[in-house]
Amino acid sequence: MTEPVVLECVALNKEFVEGPEPVRVLKDINMQVKQGERVAIVGNSGSGKTTLLNLLGGLDLPSSGYVKVAGKNLNDMSGNQRGQLRNRHIGFIYQFHHLLPEFSALENVSMPLLIRGESRSTSKGQAEELLEAVGLEHRLQHKPSELSGGERQRVAIARALVTRPSCVLADEPTGNLDSHTAQTILDMMNELNQRFNISFVTVTHSHALAVMAKKILKMEDGRLKEIEPGAL
Ligand SMILES: Nc1ncnc2c1ncn2[C@@H]1O[C@H](COP(=O)(O)OP(=O)(O)O)[C@@H](O)[C@H]1O
Ligand SMILES: [Mg+2]
Repeated sequence: MTEPVVLECVALNKEFVEGPEPVRVLKDINMQVKQGERVAIVGNSGSGKTTLLNLLGGLDLPSSGYVKVAGKNLNDMSGNQRGQLRNRHIGFIYQFHHLLPEFSALENVSMPLLIRGESRSTSKGQAEELLEAVGLEHRLQHKPSELSGGERQRVAIARALVTRPSCVLADEPTGNLDSHTAQTILDMMNELNQRFNISFVTVTHSHALAVMAKKILKMEDGRLKEIEPGAL
């Protein structure tokens, strides 16, 4: 059975105009992510990986080409509409957790649902469920400063998944963690990928993470090409 495509980009180009010469960062990128698929993106620092994720999530717009999320072309939408589509379909995980420091783990994870307009009790219930799924049911009232690095990243993962997005975009999610903690986080992401059938597009420097993905794409000279695990 072929799974539906949850996210795709076609002939995507991005240049940044800074100084006299525009810099072409992405050149004719085409990719498709199917439901439940796990894709790893590797490539040198500065090769354009974050730029690509920002375009895929509608945080920035391409110079040409388009991104479709859940079948909808982001170019045809207002910033507000893109925000709503993102809230519904995309989860983000960053290298640094980006949690709100003054709020508890439970409040941080509830936030995307409250923003979406869910009731307090629904939001709290689903946030608790996700925090339990990442093994933090005993840390609900802790603030980010009262959690370890790995725990913070688990809260960030719960926050990304609480809206049940079609696809999670993760930008070096374990880049800031020791290798043991990183492995725990990776195992957790794989488990959640299977449990909720959510697609993951993960930018990583981690060999282990890339090999666990079903598909590995390498960003080089602004182009994206599929490589075999052995070529890493
Ligand atoms: N907002 C921006 N303005 C100008 N140049 C940028 C901007 N964002 C990224 N770049 C440039 O685009 C290139 C790719 O950056 P990035 O996507 O962050 O790479 P990576 O995530 O692979 O390390 C870099 O040369 C960077 O300097
Ligand atoms: Mg980056």
